[in-house]
Amino acid sequence: MENFVRVAAVEDLSPGSTLRLVDFDPPVTLVRDLGGDFHALDDACPHVGASLVRGVIHEDAVIECPLHHGLWCLRTGEPRKYPARVPATVHRVEVRDGGVWLSV
Ligand code: FES
Repeated sequence: MENFVRVAAVEDLSPGSTLRLVDFDPPVTLVRDLGGDFHALDDACPHVGASLVRGVIHEDAVIECPLHHGLWCLRTGEPRKYPARVPATVHRVEVRDGGVWLSV
């Protein structure tokens, strides 16, 4: 059975913001997209490892790496724009009871 841990309150992140979860190994970046949905992915960019917590969030749940500007889909991890070639590792997130819960 899948286990979830509460990692934030919904109000901790406004749309378009991120939070680095350092209690996980490897660290995870929690993202609230521009539509208000939550996503989580490994913090290290799949290209050469920049921290995605400083990424730019675009429409349609896309994150842009701050280093070389590769784009990845936050829903699936699919690479969207060079130099993104390798999929990002995404994690399941649920919102309930006013909290954001991450699958571990
Ligand atoms: S480190 Fe992210 S695109 Fe290069």
